[in-house]
Amino acid sequence: MSDVKRINRRDFIQTAGKGAAVLLGSGLGVSNNFASENGFQPDLDIALRATQSEVPILPGDPTQVYKYNGRVIEGGSDALQNVKGSYLGPIIRAKKGQKIRIRFKNNIPEETIVHWHGLHVPSAMGGHPRDVIKPGRRFVYEYEVKNRAGTYWYHPHPHGHTGPQVYRGLAGFFLVSDDEEEGIPLPQNEHDIPLVLQDRTFDLNNQFVYTHDHEMNPMEPGFGFLGNTILVNGKPDFRLSVATRVYRLRILNGSNSRIYKLAWDNGRPLVIIGTDGGLLRKPVKRNYVMLAPGERIELWADFSADPVGTQHSLRSLPFDTGMMGRGPFWNDFWPDTHHPLGSAHDVFNVQVVRSEKESLVLPNKLTTIKKYNPVDAHNYFNPRTFRLSGRHMTWTINGRTFQMERVADDEVVKLNSLEVWEFINEDGFGGHMGGGMSMPHPMHLHGPQFQVIERRGVRHHGYVDNGWKDTVLLMPGERVKVLVKFTDYDGLFLYHCHNLEHEDMGMMRNYFIQR
Ligand code: C2O
Ligand code: CU
Ligand code: CU
Repeated sequence: MSDVKRINRRDFIQTAGKGAAVLLGSGLGVSNNFASENGFQPDLDIALRATQSEVPILPGDPTQVYKYNGRVIEGGSDALQNVKGSYLGPIIRAKKGQKIRIRFKNNIPEETIVHWHGLHVPSAMGGHPRDVIKPGRRFVYEYEVKNRAGTYWYHPHPHGHTGPQVYRGLAGFFLVSDDEEEGIPLPQNEHDIPLVLQDRTFDLNNQFVYTHDHEMNPMEPGFGFLGNTILVNGKPDFRLSVATRVYRLRILNGSNSRIYKLAWDNGRPLVIIGTDGGLLRKPVKRNYVMLAPGERIELWADFSADPVGTQHSLRSLPFDTGMMGRGPFWNDFWPDTHHPLGSAHDVFNVQVVRSEKESLVLPNKLTTIKKYNPVDAHNYFNPRTFRLSGRHMTWTINGRTFQMERVADDEVVKLNSLEVWEFINEDGFGGHMGGGMSMPHPMHLHGPQFQVIERRGVRHHGYVDNGWKDTVLLMPGERVKVLVKFTDYDGLFLYHCHNLEHEDMGMMRNYFIQR
């Protein structure tokens, strides 16, 4: 790989060569044990720990978990909200423009680091796996919340161990509000409910079981982890008791690999008001929504016409995964459409338990989203392409797997440039290993949010590609173009598949924003 540069220092400077990059600087990633040498004045100062803990999930023995615990040091006690009786980390609530300090301490017996999924923070604050800290050590994050109001989240990002650490419980919501959102008549407080969907498998002693097909058969890259029990906010058989009124449901797919095809069981369409990067310009209706790991949707859920006693359920409908594999190790395991990924599940139930008057009406217009103009992208006629495929017994992006300190020539972009990135999920026919393989891949960028401008080869119609996105699902054979502008921060950022087992196997790369 002669086109790949080694990054052994923290800072880049530009050189004369085309796309070439030279590095200089201290080379230290984690030397920020003491904050505020830079005079950073936080509006919100939080302590956060990754801990070993146990929580009751099923009847009987409690389950051993990892859990984020938090405490507000300064800045208002409502900035953190614990999710009672759950392994989930506290919900962090911040306002756009706030400066945040998070003093993170690693109290689990393995290396870890925290990533703020969807938040636009400097390279050194983003939880890059090179910044992992050892058990007992600290990492202090300091950044300004630049994102618009929306449903973001945080989770670990140590290379090769993100899947198992998230699986054991490390994840939490990070909700951002702003003035624009506060001016819109939406359900608030207890009527604004964050819900994270995750799947788990338990053993007979109520402990989490984590295995995935790649571990069982290293000769094939594997789909990833699928659990047989759906948990919502860490609880099985989740039930939401509601009044006869409107709710805002913020749904995060926090599963390792599972994709949901969400729909109401009563045939009502889903009314979507937000996606990854906050509220849409206007509400969108869909009979179902495909929600891949890392993605969020926000629903306007109106129960005002339902008599008390009504029950609804949000279901995941069966779907054709579009997976194909004609390689020697493939058909033995999951022939075509029978993969358990596409099976039906109940996700949660809603029970209307009391009547209540309220007068909220679905707004026609929600927010202002400034649309990028594709022709403003300097590479509009020649998009940067990323081919997703299974090769060499693993999943690759442009034939490459993750290299901690490296970036290739075609992974260097300019600060403040607007680009078209095209992800191509190869259909499995052109690949390696006598046929090749094809699976869904939710592609995610660290750093800026992007706008989806084109989707081709479409297999499902439940995509909500509107608004601001940081994760976009590509089913086998699909191609998606996004517009992304690399603003504010230079340095090293990641892009990767958010199927956590794929990510851990190396379906992840650095890109470098050059000043
Ligand atoms: Cu939520 Cu790099 O990921
Ligand atoms: Cu992320
Ligand atoms: Cu993938």
